[in-house]
Formats: sequence, C-alpha cells, structure tokens
Amino acid sequence: MCGIVGYVGQEQAAPILLEGLSKLEYRGYDSAGVAVYADQKGTLEVHKAKGRLQVLSDLLQGGASVHGCVGIGHTRWATHGAPSDVNSHPQVSRSGRIAVVHNGIIENYAELKAFLMEQGVPFTSETDTEVVAQLIEHFYDGDILQAVGRVLRRIEGAYALGILCADAPDQIIAVRKDSPLILGYGKDCSFLASDVTAIIRHTRDVVYMDDGEVAVLRRDGIQCYNHLMQPIEKEISHVDWEIDAAEKGGYEHFMFKEIMEQPEALRRCIFPRIRDGEVYLEDFALSEEYIRNIEKIYIVACGSSYHVGMVGKYNLERLTRKPVEVALASEFRYMDPIVSADTLVIVISQSGETLDTMAALREAKRLGATILSIVNVVGSSIARESDMVLYTWAGPEIAVATTKAYSTQMAVMDLLALYFARVLGTVAEEEYQAAIRELLLLPAKMETILADKDDIQYYASQYFNHNSVFFIGRNVDYAMGLEGSLKLKEISYIHSEAYASGELKHGTISLIESGTLVVALASYQKLFEKSMNNVVEVKSRGADVLALTTESRREEMGKVANAVIAIPDTHDLLLPSLGVVPLQLFAYYVALMRGCDIDKPRNLAKSVTVE
Ligand code: G6P
Repeated sequence: MCGIVGYVGQEQAAPILLEGLSKLEYRGYDSAGVAVYADQKGTLEVHKAKGRLQVLSDLLQGGASVHGCVGIGHTRWATHGAPSDVNSHPQVSRSGRIAVVHNGIIENYAELKAFLMEQGVPFTSETDTEVVAQLIEHFYDGDILQAVGRVLRRIEGAYALGILCADAPDQIIAVRKDSPLILGYGKDCSFLASDVTAIIRHTRDVVYMDDGEVAVLRRDGIQCYNHLMQPIEKEISHVDWEIDAAEKGGYEHFMFKEIMEQPEALRRCIFPRIRDGEVYLEDFALSEEYIRNIEKIYIVACGSSYHVGMVGKYNLERLTRKPVEVALASEFRYMDPIVSADTLVIVISQSGETLDTMAALREAKRLGATILSIVNVVGSSIARESDMVLYTWAGPEIAVATTKAYSTQMAVMDLLALYFARVLGTVAEEEYQAAIRELLLLPAKMETILADKDDIQYYASQYFNHNSVFFIGRNVDYAMGLEGSLKLKEISYIHSEAYASGELKHGTISLIESGTLVVALASYQKLFEKSMNNVVEVKSRGADVLALTTESRREEMGKVANAVIAIPDTHDLLLPSLGVVPLQLFAYYVALMRGCDIDKPRNLAKSVTVE
C-alpha cells in the first residue's frame, strides 16, 4: 500500500527519493510523486504521474532534472479518488507552500473539507490528503510545527504523513498514527520511510515511530515529540539483514526467489528453536500455569496469514485438545467476540502492519486477552503492541503474493503447538519426538520438491488456459487448498475456489463439467480413501484432476487422477508445509505463462494499511 520516502541532506534529493520509492513498489501502488524544496526559487517543486514509477522517473530524468536537497516522495494506492496525476501525492495547499504525502485514511475528511470550503479554500483533488495540506495552511501563522499540532488534534483516522513547508526549507515533518513510519539516521542526512527496504542502502540505524509521535528531520539530526509535542528521546535500532535480501539476485521475479529461499528461511526459523529434541521459544513469557488454564485460543489474521491460522487450528486442537477458533481480523473486530483473561489470542501477520489485524489485536487486548503474535517484520506495530512475539525470521518479503513468510508462519505455529502439547502432556513422547525429527528434516524435504520444479512447470503448461479452477481437500488439505487457490487467483487472475471435499455435493459439484480443472489435495493420510472417493466423484462428472499426495500414495492416486504431484512423506502436522510448495510453483508458472505482472498483481497491496 502507499509508500513514503523522505530525505534531508547535502545530495540531490530526487534521485534518492526515486530510488527509495522503487524499493517500495512491492507494496502496491498506482501513481507516484515527489516534492522537493527548490533551493534556488524558495518554493516547492512538485512532480506527479499516474502509473508506474518509471513514468515519473523518465519525466524527471531519474531525478537529475530536479534540484534541491530536501524532499518527500510517495507511491499511492488509490482510496479516495481514482488513480490520476491530480489525485497523486504530494498534495499541496492552495498557495503551494505546504506539501503532504500520506499513507492511511483521514476518516473525517468530508467534514473538514466542508469547513475549509466555507472559508473559501478551493480544492483540486478528490483526496482526503489534500484536506491535511489545506488545513495545515489554514492554521499556519509562521510556526509550521504548531500548525501541524493543531491539525493533528482535528483529524481522525490512520495516517503516516511527510510534510514539507516552503518557509522551512531545511526540514521535513513526520507524523505517525496507525500507519508505519520509520526514521533513518545517516551521516549528515536523515531519512523517512514506510519501511526499511527504502533506505537500507543509506543507513541501518533507524527509529520506529510510535503512534501519536511527530518528528522533525534535519540534515544534522532528528528531534522526536510525543503527542503533547514534548521533545522525547527514542531508541535507535540497528537493522542487521543484508541489502541483497531485498534484491532479486539474478531471479526474474521476487516471488520465485522467495519460493526458492524457503528451505533456508525454515532453517533460520526452526533450527535455533530446537535443542536436544525439545522446542524452545525465545522470550516466551507464558507460564505453564497460564497455558494449562487457557480456555480458548483465537487465531486472528488476514489473507494468507489467515490460511496459516486454518492449518494451525487443526494442528493445535489435535495436539493440545484446547478449543481453537480462527477468525478473519476484519470480522473479529466487529463481532463482539467472547474473550476473557483466559483467552489466548494468536495474531499472525507478515508485515505486522495490517490495519484490520491491528484493530483486532487492540480489541482483544481491551477485552483482557493475552496477545501472542507471529510476525515477520521486526519492530512492526503488531509486534510492538503484543504481549509476546515469535518472529518468523523469513527475511524481507517483497513479492505481494506471500510464500516464505507463509511457510515460516506455519513452522512457528507447529513449534507452538508442540510446545503447548508438551506442557499440557497431551502428546505422547514418541509422537513428539517424531514430529521434532520431521521438523528438522523439513527444509531438506522441501528442497527435493523445489528440485522437481520442472514437473510443476509442465503441469502449468497443460492447464494455464483454464478460466476456472477448483481446489478440493479435507482437513489440513482443505486449509492448504485455500492458500493454493488464493495464490493462483491473486497472481494469474484465474477464477478459483477452494472447497472442503465433503461440501462439494451440496452445490459446487453442479459447476463441474467436462474439462473443468480440479486440483485434488490428498496428502492427509487419515482421510486418503475419502479424498480418493472425491476424485472419482468429480472425474465421473468430466473433471480433469491434478492430484497432490505423498510419495507413498502416488501410485494409488495415479490410478484415478489425470496427473499426480507427490511430496515426500512426513509427519501429518507438516504435510501442508510441504504441500503448499507445488501449489505456489503452479500459481507462479501459470501466471508466467499468462504474461501477468507476478510481483505486483493488479489492485493488490503487500501491506494493507487501510480498512
Ligand atoms: C495482503 C497481502 C497478503 C497477506 C495479507 C495479510 O493482502 O497481499 O499476501 O497475506 O495482506 O498480510 P499480513 O502482513 O498481515 O500477513
């Protein structure tokens, strides 16, 4: 979703801003813009363009044509007002002396706009952001920080803001509430960004702004303020991942690179947490007594993270015998959930910034629950507001369609389920040890699947022309199907649905006709025969069945399905971790053959910071 970059220093700002914005492209956007303090003229120079960042970059000769060493940049994902040059950010005030970039939504913008229009303020865009720029100018009487403070008392909603004022040419003002914003400390320069990837080439020393905070960035340093505009000191964090981690490194797409990185990501995530055949969870503050007293577990998340929760429910319930409910964060926050002090809420989020997930977390906290989050981005909002965090250590994930974050989230869920089961005494020693052994083998088994990727590419070449696909499965295979289906539809734009196989006959089977592609997932051993029956059921209605099962069942399945993908046999708990990989590859190759924009699918964003 929208990306913000800011720079104050001694070098030409525009090329730095454009380069930073290019690192944020993955978040999803439809237009881009920059505002730079043009030091020769004493004014703000604003350039904006609908479409890819390249359009803006070509317009500005890669930034070379814009002079000045202080500026802000933005990639916009349209919410209020269609994608257009005029609705792009930066938005400026009527005099052109205030420029604002914004991520989030100003909820009371209509009311504020009406107020300003009554005062004769003309508006040029349909955006909620222009209201902020105009309102700052309305309150401005020579002290820009004070004017911003007055505006903050009036606006409602979620916002990360970068603000330039032509009268204060040596500074950028940054504001954060419910939308991520980080500050970067360079040598004789300062940075502002929605996430670390935009500025890591320049600095690794960052400050994560907290809600309600304001910062003034200058060449020689940054001053932060709390919501009362009192100066505060913030702790500087050092980012320790390598720049290469956020580059394509020879791969054609980030998604493919991230699929291939999964075994390594799993090693980083799992190995340090298993010692001498036991699961260890770092910084884990839940006492054994608390775990025993848990009455109910909620897993709350969005998108693929929700699908991890679906698998997690099956595995947690089976191993711990505690009731687990999985809820979409966007539903949970409004459903008046039954939560008490004995409810553990597990929040799953790659970005740690998804607005609905964040709101659900806050609601659960308000109701007295303990919050354990499973997060990838270190220092993100969800991580910071949780009682405990288990990081997935997947490294930066750039492709919109998640792969390695999904796999590592799942691994953390498995580790957690085993840890709880051990404390509760609900798992037999033998099963516990078998699961641990298989967890340690998981990365290597995944490597064997990746080594056979050409087979998946072949199947993709057989099926990429289909317009509708059904994924069917039972139990964890059903949960895995939800993710396989989502992967396919989000990057290849093929309509696809995932169904619990047993539900087929209650309606969906009427859609099966000659040639319909059904991806039948049948890795879960306990229900293999039943899954076979469902394959026969759809085949007899004319479906073309691509089945996924384990090596030991390949032959059997081959007798009924048109084609079979086999994954290595493993502990039941881990089947979806292996099974999802061919589904990711299938979606990838299908999208490739259809000529889709794989890393940046239309209308989607990596980090969804609006409701
Ligand atoms: C977006 C992404 C998905 C992701 C979902 C939840 O829709 O495109 O890949 O699963 O948000 O994001 P989170 O960062 O909370 O896991």
